[in-house]
Amino acid sequence: MNTEIINYSQCWEDPDIMLAALKINSDDKVLSITSGGDNTLVLLIAGPLKVVSVDMNIAQNYLLELKIVAARSLPYNEYLEFLGVTRSKQRLVLFEKVHSRLSDEAAVWWSAHVSLLKSGPIQCGRFERFTNIFASYILPLVHSKKTVAKLLAFDDLEKQCIFVKQKWDSKAWRFFFGLITSRFILKRYARQRGMFRYTEKETVANIYRKRLEQHLVSVPTKRNYFLHYILTGEYGETLPPYLEENGYTQLRTISDSALHITTSSIFNYLQSMPDNTFSKFNLSDIFEALSSAENDALWEQIIRTAKPGAVVVYWNNLVERSYPAYLSPKIKTDDNFVNQLRLKDKVFFYNSFHAHTILK
Ligand SMILES: C[S@@+](CC[C@H](N)C(=O)[O-])C[C@H]1O[C@@H](n2cnc3c(N)ncnc32)[C@H](O)[C@@H]1O
Repeated sequence: MNTEIINYSQCWEDPDIMLAALKINSDDKVLSITSGGDNTLVLLIAGPLKVVSVDMNIAQNYLLELKIVAARSLPYNEYLEFLGVTRSKQRLVLFEKVHSRLSDEAAVWWSAHVSLLKSGPIQCGRFERFTNIFASYILPLVHSKKTVAKLLAFDDLEKQCIFVKQKWDSKAWRFFFGLITSRFILKRYARQRGMFRYTEKETVANIYRKRLEQHLVSVPTKRNYFLHYILTGEYGETLPPYLEENGYTQLRTISDSALHITTSSIFNYLQSMPDNTFSKFNLSDIFEALSSAENDALWEQIIRTAKPGAVVVYWNNLVERSYPAYLSPKIKTDDNFVNQLRLKDKVFFYNSFHAHTILK
């Protein structure tokens, strides 16, 4: 039995900017980091020929399998209920309907981890349990439910900015936000171990405070389900695309052969693949957990396995990673386009978003 834990039960990378950069076509072969599974599902819904979803943590892959099998086994209202989007007292009953359609390995794993299903699979990651503790126990010390609801209702950026300055950004908010985003707390309780390995920045809390300040004056809150989830433990009225009814309906019709899930480090996986295999890559922020040498070696594999004209997207959080300079003749970037997308990013905590085209 595998003893890996689920670190992320949702993807914390904005699928809208990912899709806008990747522009999926029906002949695309896509490589996607699994993480919480959400963005692999969003890519599948976009209708490529194939998505290969890779994660070195097998538990993340079992979660992806659970999400897609839930879409295929349950009516829409029960899908939302089972996954933990809406409230439920019958998740374990719903699990019985899903269980028989899982692969043997995933069925055994989930049966041994049914406690993770209690609040719904989307709530069970280490990171999500951390944000839930923040929303339930820490945020109420600073802002009332009414104030939180007001912050999350803005469609109009100008009014949002005034509210943030006058009501939200208090001394108490800064103090508690600083506390929970300190390197010490995030490393022990929130992010996957290893994500801080190459982070030299000690004053992480200040960095995140500035990023959130900037975010709150740039992106309207009303449909930002990432921010809703962090502050309330629920998504609000807008859902990630794989949870919207359209996405759900499409997930039910996609053929099994369109998705391949594999457990491996991305480097080892790509090393085993022939030249010119993938036309699109969604790489989360995996580069920052790699040393410089590992980063460069991975870029070599990406370029080798990329088809001519392939597009690669990824984010950087606390470590700024990029392709090595010697590979730059093989890479083209439309900085203006990427910067425009970055301005719309619904997740506040990244430093940068990247989309490159591979020339061969
Ligand atoms: C990179 S983490 C997401 C981190 C999150 N955005 C953050 O900043 O805390 C997403 C997923 O990538 C997987 N992962 C990280 N590095 C990987 C690698 N080299 N190969 C395969 N999967 C990897 C992890 O297991 C995890 O499930």
